[in-house]
Amino acid sequence: MSAHKFNPAKLAKLNHPDRYHRENPEAIWKTLNLTDPRVIVDIGAGTGFFAIPFSRHMPEGVVYACDIADEMLEWLEKNLPAELQGRVIPVKMEERSVPLAAEMADLVFMVNLHHELEDAAAILVETWRLLKPGGKVAIVDWKDEATESGPPVEIRVSESRIRQQLSDAGFGAVRTHRVLPCHHFLEARKPPKQPDTEGKD
Ligand SMILES: C[S@@+](CC[C@H](N)C(=O)[O-])C[C@H]1O[C@@H](n2cnc3c(N)ncnc32)[C@H](O)[C@@H]1O
Repeated sequence: MSAHKFNPAKLAKLNHPDRYHRENPEAIWKTLNLTDPRVIVDIGAGTGFFAIPFSRHMPEGVVYACDIADEMLEWLEKNLPAELQGRVIPVKMEERSVPLAAEMADLVFMVNLHHELEDAAAILVETWRLLKPGGKVAIVDWKDEATESGPPVEIRVSESRIRQQLSDAGFGAVRTHRVLPCHHFLEARKPPKQPDTEGKD
C-alpha cells in the first residue's frame, strides 16, 4: 500500500467534531443542490462521515460507501445507526475499480481522497461509468497550501490539476465552490444523453 494512504488505525480522527466546521457535510450537501437523488456513491468513504448525513437527506435512496480498507468498512458496518441499515451500504472496492453497475448514480463524490489515489484518471473513468447521464461528480480535498491540519502539502493536489483531470475524463460544467476554508471543492457533470432526433424533421 502507498505511503500516502490514510492509516486505518487512526480512523477515530475521521469522526473528530472539528470536521463539522472545516468540512461541514450539510454545507457540502446544500451546495450540491441535487434534485431528488436516489443513488449516491461515496468513494473512499472511511467511517461514513459524509455517507451517513447525506443518506439522512435521502429517505428513499441509497448511499454506497466504498473503501479499499476492511477496517473502515467493518467500523461502518458495526456503527451504522439502525435506521440507516440498507440505506448506507458498505462496499469493498479495489484501488481503481468499484464493483457496482454502470449508470446507477446521481452523484459520485470523494472527500479527502484525491491526494491518496494511485491513479486518479482510472478513478475518474470509474466515476464516469457509474454515473447516470446528467449525473454529478464532486471532489473535495485539501488545498495545496498550509492549513491548520491535513496531509503534507507536498502530496496535495492543486485545483487546476483536478480541473484538468475532470476535463480529460470527459466531464463538463466544471465548477469550483469556494465554501470551505481548507479544501478545494469541485463539481462537474457527465453530459445528459442527447435526444434521439434520427428520422425526425
Ligand atoms: C482520509 S480518509 C477520508 C475518508 C472520508 N472520505 C472522510 O473524509 O471522512 C481516505 C479514505 O480513502 C480510502 N482510500 C484510499 N485510496 C482509495 C481508493 N483508491 N479507493 C477507495 N478508497 C480509498 C482510505 O482507506 C480511507 O478510508
